[in-house]
Amino acid sequence: MKRIGVLTGGGDAPGLNAAIKSVVYRAHDHGIEVVGLHDGWRGLLDDYCDDVTPLPHHVVRTWDRDGGTNLGSSRTNPFRVASGGKTEDRSDEVIRNIEKLGLDGLVAMGGEDTLGVAFRLSRKGAPVVGVPKTIDKDLLGTDYTLGFQTAVTTCQEIIERCRTPAGSHHWVQVVEIMGRHAGHLAFWSGVGGGAFIILIPEVPFSFEHLKELLTERITRGMKNRKYPSYAVVVAAEGARLENGELVTASKEVDAFGHVKLGGVGEMLSSWIRESCPFDARSVVPAHAQRGGPPGPIDRIMGCLFGAAAVDLLLGGGSGRMVSARGVAPACRIGDESLEVAASGLNLLDADLYYDRERLNIHRGFFTRVRS
Ligand code: F6P
Repeated sequence: MKRIGVLTGGGDAPGLNAAIKSVVYRAHDHGIEVVGLHDGWRGLLDDYCDDVTPLPHHVVRTWDRDGGTNLGSSRTNPFRVASGGKTEDRSDEVIRNIEKLGLDGLVAMGGEDTLGVAFRLSRKGAPVVGVPKTIDKDLLGTDYTLGFQTAVTTCQEIIERCRTPAGSHHWVQVVEIMGRHAGHLAFWSGVGGGAFIILIPEVPFSFEHLKELLTERITRGMKNRKYPSYAVVVAAEGARLENGELVTASKEVDAFGHVKLGGVGEMLSSWIRESCPFDARSVVPAHAQRGGPPGPIDRIMGCLFGAAAVDLLLGGGSGRMVSARGVAPACRIGDESLEVAASGLNLLDADLYYDRERLNIHRGFFTRVRS
């Protein structure tokens, strides 16, 4: 193996640049040259593939500190590239360009979509391995995905900062948290940030139940200052009503067939204002949730995943993804088939963690874990 490529696809996430640096360092230890491809799978289409960036040691030396991805990203799906109102399968072009660039291996960093493409390309003979990345942590086959811990920290801080205005003004503060159809990010940042209610996609909610919980808390607090007279509600962007209805930002779907979620926070706060005897506001931190430099776990996990990806390629592991088992960063690094990663979503285990009455963490959870 003499030359490998690296690309990052899908939503950016803190920790990607640490992983790229680690790929370069490990590859160089084996005398392998690394080139960066730009903007995910788009970087391997004809019009873009001449623009690759050589990644010598000194270029990536400080990348572990950077947020986002220094290689750029896109949601391009080479199996469904939009053109003149239709979509085209350009996967053969991608395979040809991998050969044209002289790449003996490719490291694709991404979530379900990017790694789904990696899987299909590996089936067509491309020498590709995956690195799991997404702030949503919804990928099957691994217990950790790059970006998750930093996003939890960021979201927890936002939730915490929403508490004081809500407390001073006795209102309900709704905070809409990303995560697509999985509740990991909303749930853990909501628990960490001490939210009163956390709505997750895995457990549909009803307005009546929400109103009951909020009214009980706020009216008690308004009568007696000993008790809180405000509430912070964390709503996962994929939170669903009992009738299964999802709130979407637009009806359009991306190249992977996903609708753009968003709007549940605003919908809930206006509903609370109209139907409950107290005021409400909503905050949508949106892409800031993925922003900023990686925290320690993502820097460390990026480092572990990047090196493991090169080892996987060297060991003939094309068609596989590096994975973590156990609690990051002191976890076991192994690998898993890309087919598993592409086969569905890893959702929050609501039966284990979630109290459907309180719409929050199971009170017994902490005791259960201890015993
Ligand atoms: O998958 C990461 C994520 O941030 C989701 O949580 C969110 O729904 C989506 O990406 C947003 O997509 P985009 O970056 O295309 O707006």
